[in-house]
Amino acid sequence: MDTLILNENQIDETVDLLKKGEIVAIPTETVYGIAADAFNITAVEKIFKAKGRPNDNPLIVHIANMEDLFSLVTHVPKKAKILAEKFWPGPLTMIFHKNKLIPYIVTAGLDYVAIRLPYCDVARKIISKLGRPLAAPSANLSGKPSPTNYKHVLNDLNGKISAILKGDKCSIGIESTVIDLTSDNVILLRPGKITPNDISKAINEDVIIDEHVNHMVSTDGKVCSPGIKYKHYSPNTKLVLVRSSQKDFIRFVNSKTNCVVVCFEEDLEFIQLPAISYGKKFSFDDQSRRLFSVLREIDLYNAKLAYIRIAEKDINLAIFNRLLRAAEFQIIDNPQI
Ligand code: TXA
Ligand code: MG
Repeated sequence: MDTLILNENQIDETVDLLKKGEIVAIPTETVYGIAADAFNITAVEKIFKAKGRPNDNPLIVHIANMEDLFSLVTHVPKKAKILAEKFWPGPLTMIFHKNKLIPYIVTAGLDYVAIRLPYCDVARKIISKLGRPLAAPSANLSGKPSPTNYKHVLNDLNGKISAILKGDKCSIGIESTVIDLTSDNVILLRPGKITPNDISKAINEDVIIDEHVNHMVSTDGKVCSPGIKYKHYSPNTKLVLVRSSQKDFIRFVNSKTNCVVVCFEEDLEFIQLPAISYGKKFSFDDQSRRLFSVLREIDLYNAKLAYIRIAEKDINLAIFNRLLRAAEFQIIDNPQI
């Protein structure tokens, strides 16, 4: 059966579906999520099935206000309170020791749960009206780029989820920053709009960047955040990142055929192949809003390869992290021809 498309006024319909144990895609300020009542095991199982998500990859639990946090975890460290006050509602996910209310299917068997209080008004209204937290991973097929508009969701999941609540485009466009607060250190597991520096400044403490943020992890290796070991954000076209100056990049790609080029706005006019821009060179907001749409667009060119330019220095950690995974860590430095 086709997936129902609801609009932003249909909050009650959305809540009714969730109460019945159905799964519904909803907008957030980062990316669209597939939501299920986090306390309903059968509903959460449907999420894993619809996405084709490996069952050892845990889901984020979304809440509508700060008090909900205290009802779901055994302990809220002082630094978590400071970070929540500063960055919630917003694109920050924090990991805590879970209590019995959260079923193990949500955390993929872990004793720890990832919690986020989204900024998006529609998402918070749904959670409040349901009166229960929502388990919600990004609303893409596992391995594909995350969805930043409802059409992306429909492309991946039509017929596999009950409904999509069609909202505005996601204003941030890249998933939340994930940090682990379950040990003495604060560990960054996934970079996002809120940077390690933002977090450090708020709590007056260094943030440790998990080594997997910028490096490949073996599929059987033990990792802090299981999601990072899977193929991610990949279009069907093979991607290669090129880290170089504008001059070298342009010379390099203009010597190629049968390729599509993904570059900065400033590069477009010099490129002789089909090319797409993912924003100005140093505009994180612009790049994060466009990145996942651009990754989906690449396949429309039916090219054998896509070359993606990344900045030679000062590259944004969140953008780099997503691009590295999309390109399966294929990177060429300073190509000379
Ligand atoms: O912005 C976002 O975070 C979006 C929107 C929908 O809120 N959600 C999202 O969820 O990106 P998902 O499932 O696509 O990514 C969640 C990430 C995964 O890498 C997962 O492994 C990690 O968070 N994660 C979830 N629970 C965890 C836990 N208990 N311990 C460690 N990592 C966890
Ligand atoms: Mg995801």
